[in-house]
Amino acid sequence: MNQTVPTRDQAYELLTEFNKNEGLIKHALAVEAVMRYVAKKRGEDENKWGVIGLVHDLDYEKYPDQHCTKSEEILRERGWPEEYVRAVVSHGWGICSDAEPETDLEKVLYAVDELTGLVVTTALVRPSKSLMDLKAKSVKKKWKDKRFAAGVDRNIIEKGARMLGVEISELITDTIMGMREVADDLGLRGNIEQ
Ligand SMILES: [Fe+2]
Ligand SMILES: [Fe+2]
Repeated sequence: MNQTVPTRDQAYELLTEFNKNEGLIKHALAVEAVMRYVAKKRGEDENKWGVIGLVHDLDYEKYPDQHCTKSEEILRERGWPEEYVRAVVSHGWGICSDAEPETDLEKVLYAVDELTGLVVTTALVRPSKSLMDLKAKSVKKKWKDKRFAAGVDRNIIEKGARMLGVEISELITDTIMGMREVADDLGLRGNIEQ
């Protein structure tokens, strides 16, 4: 089986082959952007990190009951390198997979997946409805309000941060900075001009 490195175009094509839901595609773009941002900051392979972020929930729309398992199957079938497949599967550690995040890439993916959701919800309740003026401090405040974005599992983010050995505030800032790069695609520029 050929194990060439998937390009961003190939990954996007695969994503949209399996996902039509706008919310899920936006989530994929958000996670991709954060993965790229953190990869760049750490001097890692931006394309690899980004592409893995983009397809991490590949199977979720069509096979929600087989989340992670189906992605693994599809990516293998399409000849994706093992490193990519493992990383995708490990984001669901303890939920839909028993692959514990091991590499920095996997740990970042694990932590920021949930965090992007909290950042979106926090941005949307602000007067600006924008990521562009959103500060980590505001997200931190909402963090403590367990009824706010109740679906976001704070424990997972905490666990991810601990695995990485980074402060939650730093992780939040990275997430905001990464998502700003695609604010227009996410519909989160709000009323803040360029
Ligand atoms: Fe997922
Ligand atoms: Fe996700």
